[in-house]
Amino acid sequence: MLTGTARSGAGGGPEVAVIGAGPIGLAVAWRCALAGAAVTGYDPTPGSGAGAVAAGMVAPVAEAIFGERELTGLLAASASRWPAFAAELTAATGADLGYRTDGTLVVGLTADDLTEARRLWTYQRELGLPVTPLRPTGLRECEPALATRVRGGALLPTDHQVDPRRLTAALRRAAERAGVRFVPTAVTDLAGLRADVTVVAAGCGTAALTGLPVRPVKGQILRLRAPAGTAPAIRYVVRGLADGEPVYLVPRRDGEVVVGATVEERSDTEVTAGAVQRLLRAATDLVPELAEYRLVEATAGLRPGTPDNAPILGRLAGRSGPLVAAGHHRHGIALTPVTADLIAELALTGRADPLLDPFTPDRFAPSPPGPAGPDGTEVSGR
Ligand code: GLY
Repeated sequence: MLTGTARSGAGGGPEVAVIGAGPIGLAVAWRCALAGAAVTGYDPTPGSGAGAVAAGMVAPVAEAIFGERELTGLLAASASRWPAFAAELTAATGADLGYRTDGTLVVGLTADDLTEARRLWTYQRELGLPVTPLRPTGLRECEPALATRVRGGALLPTDHQVDPRRLTAALRRAAERAGVRFVPTAVTDLAGLRADVTVVAAGCGTAALTGLPVRPVKGQILRLRAPAGTAPAIRYVVRGLADGEPVYLVPRRDGEVVVGATVEERSDTEVTAGAVQRLLRAATDLVPELAEYRLVEATAGLRPGTPDNAPILGRLAGRSGPLVAAGHHRHGIALTPVTADLIAELALTGRADPLLDPFTPDRFAPSPPGPAGPDGTEVSGR
């Protein structure tokens, strides 16, 4: 067990301990340090969690799916913070984050694929989200490398992307420059930490530290590279269905194309031939030219999933418990700015922004009931 003591801020700010140095933990630490806290970050392998393999889609519209209205609102709130967050991080570090605002195309390869995609974007349009349906000709005017077989699709102009590896490195640098101290040690018991505020941002490791239901959800993902010296054949993020197989393609200016990802209720990180085959097949069905690219990486990561697929954001166990910023599942990169801002505010001022209300830990770990009366009913006035 680690016993750590966080330090007092130079300006007398509170001591904050942040457990976990993935994008979420780093961004929380950075924001807390900028606000005057003395921050210590704990992680034996910083930047090695789900963020290390993530594609980096900032997709408030494509990820607005049936039954997740509150999460859709949080994704939109975070997307609106992304431009200023990226600019501030670049100004603090000089780093190019690979933040791109070209937009996203959602496509269907077959008539069945298109029917399914259209059903979702109809729902998204009913929510007032920006979706522009395109005919095949319009689609190919946007993205000439799409297969001629693609039956149709839509433009989502506000769904953007950032390179998670560049983001994580920049957040680490910005946090260090703001005064965050990093301790490369695993925290196994929160009781051993002495800080004014503890923030648990430990991804899948959050379950063991807090008892909250955060489970690993495996994702296998590939990285292709365009022929040397050339940009990828696609400019937009392309996501869609190819004969029922969901796939996304995320092009980077440096020639990389990320192809993702499986969603598997498993906790291993093996890369399997079948998954690679399915992802490559779906990718090349949509953009045939990708078959000429080099396959440079095949990896698997573990998303921190929760029972309702939404993150856990807030204070655990009443007024004295640690803060939790975990369980971001498919949305860790997209939700980084809003999580960092709101959790830092909660850590330093005690104010819980109403945006956090649907995501508090209590929905999984209700506050303990008051003392029971003789007939077994609760007697406290809470
Ligand atoms: N954010 C996309 C994924 O989790 O695969």
